[in-house]
Amino acid sequence: MIPLLFQVLFIAGVEAASKPQMGWNSWNTFKAKINESLIKDTAAALVKLGLADAGYEYVMIDAGWQAHTRAENGQQQANVSTFPSGIKGVADHVHDLGLKLGIYSDSGIYDCDFHPGSWGYEELDAYTYASWGVDYLKYDNCGGFQAGTISSQERFQKMGQALKESGREIFYALCQWGHQFPWYWADQIADSYRMSGDIYASFASDKSGVCQTAYCLNTGYAGVSVLTMIRKMREISPFQKPGSWADMDMLEIGTNTMNEFEEQTHFSFWAALKSPLIIGADITNISESSLAILLNKEVIAISQDELGVAAAYIPDQSTEGSIQVWGGPLSHQYVVLVLNYGKETANVDLKLQNLPGLDQLCNSTDVKIRDVWGGKDLGKFTEDIHLEDVAVHQTKVLLISC
Ligand SMILES: *[C@@H]1O[C@H](CO)[C@@H](O)[C@H](O)[C@H]1NC(C)=O
Ligand SMILES: *[C@@H]1O[C@H](CO)[C@@H](O)[C@H](O)[C@H]1NC(C)=O
Ligand SMILES: *[C@@H]1O[C@H](CO)[C@@H](O)[C@H](O)[C@H]1NC(C)=O
Ligand SMILES: *[C@@H]1O[C@H](CO)[C@@H](O)[C@H](O)[C@H]1NC(C)=O
Repeated sequence: MIPLLFQVLFIAGVEAASKPQMGWNSWNTFKAKINESLIKDTAAALVKLGLADAGYEYVMIDAGWQAHTRAENGQQQANVSTFPSGIKGVADHVHDLGLKLGIYSDSGIYDCDFHPGSWGYEELDAYTYASWGVDYLKYDNCGGFQAGTISSQERFQKMGQALKESGREIFYALCQWGHQFPWYWADQIADSYRMSGDIYASFASDKSGVCQTAYCLNTGYAGVSVLTMIRKMREISPFQKPGSWADMDMLEIGTNTMNEFEEQTHFSFWAALKSPLIIGADITNISESSLAILLNKEVIAISQDELGVAAAYIPDQSTEGSIQVWGGPLSHQYVVLVLNYGKETANVDLKLQNLPGLDQLCNSTDVKIRDVWGGKDLGKFTEDIHLEDVAVHQTKVLLISC
């Protein structure tokens, strides 16, 4: 018999990561140039724009919040000129808005901007975050003189243990860039894990040194485009499961680097592949069309579906270099993504019987289909689905029900 207190803690712990986390993070737009008013303004915007109600609940302060040294008692401390209320003050403010606060540290001696990392201080830092009311930790992989001698698993596990013993439920998000294939082991220590080096605000162009598949490493600072991130998930999506989400990195929607179809594609894949949905744009000045994409209730529902199964790549229905088809079950429906990543508008034919797992949901081949971005029901289908005029870089998201 497990004592009641522990049962409650256990259930609460499972809940936090039972669905891919949603929120906003400062890094993509602001890098380390952040401050308290930026974080508070963004938290206010999340509420005002309806993003908080749509599920974006974590406000995440990435690198740049710390002073350059630890305090005399050894604790990490915020830079008092940029965060005059300290992290505790910001956490209280964010909590009053009904949101949760995320913070950033690093598994090395330094973080990527040479602020004190948590190596050797894991317990103290976890305790400090808990005492400040922090709800989420993004844990990075820089400044590691240890990196060559101590494995990621060991460095990241130490902080995971410290968080568990901190007395507060703190969501633990690994950011070790997909080294050593964390989809095989991160479920033992964390709630989510980055499966690659950083994303880059481009639909299709990678920076140099980016590797195309899951099983090779990016060299140098990554710069992975949206299309390549999707490509890498062909190998990783089957590992997705509640409590251990592969994180395709922040959303570049609203950074004015993609057209509307490209932003829809980006959002569709992050949702259907069960990546965390973490906005990286400046939401205090976001276009209406980008905001509408981030607020699309049907796509968010695909992400947050109870089943927690990611769509899988379907090679039989795809044509390498021009059409990708992905599909998978939701708790009461089946989702299909059809992406045109070729050079011209395309017509696409899908065979219902070639959608793996659909037969487990629907006994007959007589199904109803909804076009999510089109916002309309397409009617009943028996064998084939014919999609007319899928634009370049557009993704059709179809919801199939019996
Ligand atoms: C806070 O940071 C933002 C983004 O870098 C900047 O635009 C703003 O001027 C800063 N505000 C203060 C008070 O420093
Ligand atoms: C605080 O941040 C400012 C602005 O980035 C920087 O100039 C200053 O050195 C930082 N202070 C400390 C104590 O790290
Ligand atoms: C807001 O975004 C637009 C582009 O959509 C840009 O031209 C403008 O400079 C931005 N304003 C601020 C205050 O950042
Ligand atoms: C399909 O049919 C089988 C056998 O007739 C039945 O056991 C099963 O529950 C049905 N599944 C659905 C999704 O209706």
